[in-house]
Amino acid sequence: MFDLGLESTHTLITGSSGGLGLELVSLFLSQGSLVTAHYNSNPAGLDSIPSSSALVKAQADVEKEAEVERLFVEAREGMGGKGVEVLVVNHAYIALNDAPLSKMTLEQWNKTININLTGTFLLVRAFLNQLHYVPENRKHKIAVVFIGSTAGLFGEAGHADYACSKSALMTGLALSLKNEIVTLAPRARVNVVAPGWIKTPAVASLLADPDVVYRALATTPLKKLADPRDVATQVLALASETLSGHVTGQVVMVHGGMEGRLLNREADI
Ligand SMILES: NC(=O)c1ccc[n+]([C@@H]2O[C@H](COP(=O)([O-])OP(=O)(O)OC[C@H]3O[C@@H](n4cnc5c(N)ncnc54)[C@H](OP(=O)(O)O)[C@@H]3O)[C@@H](O)[C@H]2O)c1
Repeated sequence: MFDLGLESTHTLITGSSGGLGLELVSLFLSQGSLVTAHYNSNPAGLDSIPSSSALVKAQADVEKEAEVERLFVEAREGMGGKGVEVLVVNHAYIALNDAPLSKMTLEQWNKTININLTGTFLLVRAFLNQLHYVPENRKHKIAVVFIGSTAGLFGEAGHADYACSKSALMTGLALSLKNEIVTLAPRARVNVVAPGWIKTPAVASLLADPDVVYRALATTPLKKLADPRDVATQVLALASETLSGHVTGQVVMVHGGMEGRLLNREADI
């Protein structure tokens, strides 16, 4: 088997209690990675992952600066003093009901931006400030992977707050960070995996609507929705220095080749 070089690498995965997060935790553990699995309000979401010395579960509301700082302390202490080497920012909030901009509340806008974008800033800052715990001879393992979205590329009518939070991660934050992180660790890399619809429990109610599925697949040559594994394997590939050691600042779209939004049906024109 090809060695991804992730054995004993300390990986912190945010939003591990969610659908994609669980898959990420399983996949990183399967590669021998030491995983800090972050959750916020739902510790039971991690119950299906068997306890082991390679797994630390840690809570934090990423809207709260002190909790994000504490998260990295708990991660390190839980792994015997080993600093976090790979950060996967997977958590996110999306208001499921459509809210056109003319009707979107400031409260919703602020909540989405705070969790998805400001929370990511807090995580990245705390991650950078603990890199001195990573020994020099392991610094080439350091990597960040953000989870973006097709919403960040194509926009998402009814969810502009979410789309803006994702596009900010996919461009402004990722591209700035990839140029800054090398001043702390010269081989450290920053990339983004941006999925289209994924079959996770969070969106199961929406995907039960055949019209939603039709609209998603109408511009998608592969004519299928992603399974969590389709997305998690790309995260693994970008986190691996062995596979992706010369790849930084890239956005990998995992959307079956989607060309954009279906705006109009025949009846609409
Ligand atoms: N599902 C899709 O179709 C789809 C499509 C494109 C992109 N994505 C992206 O893929 C990622 C995972 O999606 P998913 O479907 O697995 O989502 P999910 O099941 O809803 O999981 C969301 C995760 O975010 C955490 N979270 C929410 N608010 C938080 C906060 N204030 N502080 C800390 N953590 C918080 C939740 O923690 P608790 O539950 O413990 O509170 C949960 O672990 C997200 O970045 C999402 O935007 C998903």
